[in-house]
Amino acid sequence: MNIENSCIVIFGASGDLTFRKLIPALYNLFRVGRLGQHFSVLGVARSELTDDSFRTKMRDALIKFEKAEGQELEDFCTHLYYQAVNTSEALDYAKLLPRLDELHDKYGSCGNTLYYLSTPPSLYGVIPECLAAHGLTTEEYGWKRIIVEKPFGYDIKTAKELDEKIHHYFEEHQIYRIDHYLGKETVQNLLVLRFSNGLFEPLWNRNFIDYVEITGAEAIGVEERGGYYDGSGAMRDMFQNHLLQVLAMVAMEPPAIINADSMRDEVAKVLHCLHPLTAEDVKNNVVLGQYVAGEVDDQMVAGYLAEKGVPADSNTETYMAIKCEIDNWRWAGVPFYVRTGKRLPTRVTEVVIHFKTTPHPVFSQNAPENKLIIRVQPDEGISMRFGLKKPGAGFEAKEVSMDFRYSDLSSASSLLTAYERLLLDALKGDATLFARTDAVHAC
Ligand code: BG6
Repeated sequence: MNIENSCIVIFGASGDLTFRKLIPALYNLFRVGRLGQHFSVLGVARSELTDDSFRTKMRDALIKFEKAEGQELEDFCTHLYYQAVNTSEALDYAKLLPRLDELHDKYGSCGNTLYYLSTPPSLYGVIPECLAAHGLTTEEYGWKRIIVEKPFGYDIKTAKELDEKIHHYFEEHQIYRIDHYLGKETVQNLLVLRFSNGLFEPLWNRNFIDYVEITGAEAIGVEERGGYYDGSGAMRDMFQNHLLQVLAMVAMEPPAIINADSMRDEVAKVLHCLHPLTAEDVKNNVVLGQYVAGEVDDQMVAGYLAEKGVPADSNTETYMAIKCEIDNWRWAGVPFYVRTGKRLPTRVTEVVIHFKTTPHPVFSQNAPENKLIIRVQPDEGISMRFGLKKPGAGFEAKEVSMDFRYSDLSSASSLLTAYERLLLDALKGDATLFARTDAVHAC
C-alpha cells in the first residue's frame, strides 16, 4: 500500500517525544524513500517559534540522535513547518486553517491530515473538540486520522470518558491508539513464529506449557520524567499497555486472516479472558517495589524519591510483578508471570515459554527444562533450550541451546524502528498494530 500525499500535524511539537522519536522516525522514513516528497510536517505548540527556528531545533536533534548530515537532512527540513497555537483555547485553532490550506496546496495533499497528539494527556479530549469546532475533523475534503499517545485514561472510568470525547469528533476507524511495543519487529515476530509454523501450535496450550514469563526490565531510572511517572507508576507506564499487548500476542488465538479487524478481535478476546483480581487476590499475586539509591557502573545513582519531580513521600511503584491467569480452554491453569521495573540490573525484554518436563525422569533426577526464549530487546532473537547427552560415560543430560539472532539476517539493518513502522502504517490507514477501544478497556 502506498502512502498518499499528506500533512502530519504534531501537537506538542516542542516536547521530548517529538524531537527524540517522531521527527527522527519521519526523517528515516524520508531517507529510505518511504515518505516520498509530497508530505509536510506542521509542528504545533504554545511556544512562539517560526518555521526557521523549528527547523533549526529539529535539525540539531537529528544531528544529535541520528547522526544526520548533508543534503538529505537539508531536504527533509524543508518539509517542516511550525504554528504557535494555545492548544487549550478553541479560538486560537483558527490559526491552523490558513496554514493547512497553504500546505495542502503546496504538497497536493488534498486535505489528508494525520494529527499526532504528543501533548500532556489533559489535552487529549480538548484538541479533537477544538479541531472539530473549525471543521478540521470532517472527511469531506481528504482523510483525517488521529494518533493518541498513552496513557489512555487513568482507569476504566477515565478511559471510557476519553473515548467518548474523542468519538464525538472522530470515528473509530480514524483513531489510532499508539503502543510502540506493537511496532517492534520482534513483537510482531511472535505472531509469525506462532502462526506460520506447524511445529509450535500443537504445543501452545495448557497440555504442554507449564508457565510463561514476560519481563520488561530497564536499567535506567525515571530520568527527567519524574513528574509524569509519579502519576503513572510501572503498572500504568509499562504493564497496562506494552506488556499486556505482548501477553496478548503470546496468548491470542490465530486470526483467520491478518487484517486490522480480525487481529484486533483476537487480541480483545484474550484480554477479556484475563482473570480479574479481587483485593484479596492482589495480596498473593502482585508484588510492588520502588528503587533506592545505589551503584550503577561504579557511579552512585539517586533513589526514586530523590528524582526530579517526585514527591519525597511518593508511594508510586517503579517495579511490579504480577501473576496473571487466562480463563479459557487454551490457558486455564497456566500462570503468566509478568514483571517490569526501572533501575534493574540489566535491560531486557523477553518472553520465556516454559514447557512441562517429561512425565518421568529416565536419565537423571534433574531433567533439563525445555524453554523457548523470545528476546524482544536487546540482542533480538530466539533460543530453544533442551537436553542432550553429556559426552562420556552414562546418560547424563545437559541443557543446550539453539539460537537465532535477528542480526544474522542480512536485511536486519534495514528494519524499521517501532515509531517508523507505526507512523507509516497510520499514514497508510492500516490500524492492525494499533490498540482498539475494546482492547484498551479490557487492559
Ligand atoms: C515508554 C515508557 O512507553 O516505554 C517508558 O513510558 C519506558 O518509561 C519505555 O522506558 C520503554 O520502551 P522501550 O522501547 O525502550 O522498551
